[in-house]
Amino acid sequence: MAFDIDMIKKVYATMDKRVNKAREIVGKPLTLTEKILYSHLWDGTPTKAFTRGKDYVDFAPDRIACQDATAQMALLQFMQAGRDNVAVPTTVHCDHLIQAKSGATEDLKRANDTSKEVFDFLESVSNKYGIGFWKPGAGIIHQVVLENYAFPGGMMIGTDSHTVNAGGLGMVAVGVGGADAVDVMAGMPWELKFPKLIGVKLTGELNGWTASKDVILKVAGILTVKGGTGAILEYFGEGAKNLSCTGKGTICNMGAEIGATTSTFGYDDSMERFLRATDRNDIADEANKVKSHLTGDPEVYAKPEQYFDQVIEINLSELRPHLNGPFTPDLATPVGQLGQKAKENGWPIKVDWGLIGSCTNSSYEDLTRASSIAKQAVDKKLKPKSDFGINPGSEQIRYTAERDGILKIFEDLDATIFTNACGPCIGQWDRSDVKGDEKNTIVHSFNRNFSKRADGNPNTHAFVGSPEMVAAIAISGRLDFDPMNDTLINEDGEEVKLEIPKGLELPPLGFEVKESGYLAPTENGRSVEVKVSPTSERLQLLDPFEPWDGGNLTNAKLLIKAFGKCTTDHISMAGPWLRYRGHLDNIANNTLIGAVNAFNKKTNFVKSQLSGEYGGVPDVQREYKKAGIPTVVVGDHNYGEGSSREHAAMQPRHLGVKVVLVKSFARIHETNLKKQGMLGLTFANEADYDLIQEDDTFNFVDLKDFAPEKQLTIELVHKDGSTDTIKANHTYNNAQIEWYKEGSALNLIKKENAK
Ligand code: F3S
Repeated sequence: MAFDIDMIKKVYATMDKRVNKAREIVGKPLTLTEKILYSHLWDGTPTKAFTRGKDYVDFAPDRIACQDATAQMALLQFMQAGRDNVAVPTTVHCDHLIQAKSGATEDLKRANDTSKEVFDFLESVSNKYGIGFWKPGAGIIHQVVLENYAFPGGMMIGTDSHTVNAGGLGMVAVGVGGADAVDVMAGMPWELKFPKLIGVKLTGELNGWTASKDVILKVAGILTVKGGTGAILEYFGEGAKNLSCTGKGTICNMGAEIGATTSTFGYDDSMERFLRATDRNDIADEANKVKSHLTGDPEVYAKPEQYFDQVIEINLSELRPHLNGPFTPDLATPVGQLGQKAKENGWPIKVDWGLIGSCTNSSYEDLTRASSIAKQAVDKKLKPKSDFGINPGSEQIRYTAERDGILKIFEDLDATIFTNACGPCIGQWDRSDVKGDEKNTIVHSFNRNFSKRADGNPNTHAFVGSPEMVAAIAISGRLDFDPMNDTLINEDGEEVKLEIPKGLELPPLGFEVKESGYLAPTENGRSVEVKVSPTSERLQLLDPFEPWDGGNLTNAKLLIKAFGKCTTDHISMAGPWLRYRGHLDNIANNTLIGAVNAFNKKTNFVKSQLSGEYGGVPDVQREYKKAGIPTVVVGDHNYGEGSSREHAAMQPRHLGVKVVLVKSFARIHETNLKKQGMLGLTFANEADYDLIQEDDTFNFVDLKDFAPEKQLTIELVHKDGSTDTIKANHTYNNAQIEWYKEGSALNLIKKENAK
């Protein structure tokens, strides 16, 4: 299964030369991030310094990881690229398609029945093209990657926004759209705008109830969901060294919630301990030989303001536990102040569920700390007031936790142990305790808490916290419970207090697993047949998108002017729609159904300029498509934030939307639009958003002259015949304009492979 030590040795062998050259070219000491970036240039040894936040750079990642929901479309695309094998070590992980309901055994069996077609497809494509395959139940992609594939100083991409989790083991690991992954699988470079750098200096040491999770909850509160956009966060300082490797993973994981490209930590003893505990002594030995390249230069950390674009300092000794939410992960509130805030805002105080685990927080340390609280509940005769659910991150973690009696403690509290999979974190949760849209509160140790995320209910108020805090809150059943100061009444009517959590960084008896769930691909996959039924509801082979006709786009109609937050969940909802991730036409029926129409503040209710009637977004768009009329989607700030799914770009493209014009984009989504041959534009003057009216027609006056750094001019024709002319900015470089011309990046790859 395992990591490729020869590949890692190769990376380390070139590091000395590349890092030294980069230091010389840049002309100053280097951060760790720069060392990793400059030692992974597509063209090898660096020859020029790049400008942060400006230059697009081609990189050569060491690895790719895909999860089952995004892998379907990525691999359907890769199949079109005309290759025998993936060019870069790749793995596929089946974790998103398993619904949590009654517990691991039954849930996994049901998923293996209901998603058999998809799992079989992924297994056979993996086998054919040399891709490692992790079966359903083997674990959540990022936990499996951290335990098996991540290595200090490496670079990886993954078709999931929480790929960034591997920063906990000193990687630059970035979540990308399937289209980016397809490029790299097909032997092409991966392009990224050279990021800005945010340094996070950690001093002191965690203590008491405060956990690694609280570091990122605090950072999210400081930077907000947009604050990390276009930047890599590099954590350093004595405080960083005091954190466990998996705790670092948690912090990096939730860097996705502030829009960061990724986050990383320098190689240290905690990483070495984790590598050795996960049976990777040879990587630790190799990493020790190039240690100085696996962390930032000392001068950088001594005077960080001189080397980072922004510096944040957090004293871990003073950090308090937080709960963030509801509906957004950057609404940070220290525990103890939440009761008051909840009362003011009408958030339900009663907590119905406490959910522990996910790719964010299911390490041995997390489970032991949370179980130390659960154990107290058993010992002190406290019956939990909320339901408990646990999603272990991998079979290795689950097996080890079961062996060490940790899961038993939760079971004694009637917790449901779900499959080693995403479950409620991605809306795969058949929840029966709440009917309809009933207002309710849950707490979880996941990363994301957007509206409807966990259970599809817009009135579920989800709060994010550390596993131990989730355990305490779930036992109390109250959002205003502060375990540091409050007491609880037990079954004997006695007042009891929960002691501070205790955990173990790593299992004293080592990790253990019987059936990891890994399938290695066959040596020669040529004869392996990949079957996709033409009548399948869930899988559909792709047709190439039409190339640009080279003309100006005229007479385009407004499909929707989205108001406020419009995440990839709003554009292409998860939950039950995950079922259609491999079938473009079917999943297109969820396009933008979660976006709020600025004109009536309703979701999935837009005006058709053809009939004058109101209807669902996909239905109205299909009318335009049928009539051969191009359309435009207008959006607000940070449009497309959230996940890396390229469906959010492919679906509008498939349905005939030509342009997405917004105040600002989330990075991955903007790239995805470009890859799929769409025009992703931003208002040159944000206030022009207000000029857009419900019956508007868009005429692109100078699209014919589409060129890098050249604004585009758009004439808006309003219903009364009056017009406004506005300017739009774009970030397309020459190569990306080629994608646009060809109709998609994949069309261009195919053309090049055919040469
Ligand atoms: Fe899965 Fe949730 Fe992580 S969906 S990959 S557990 S963010």
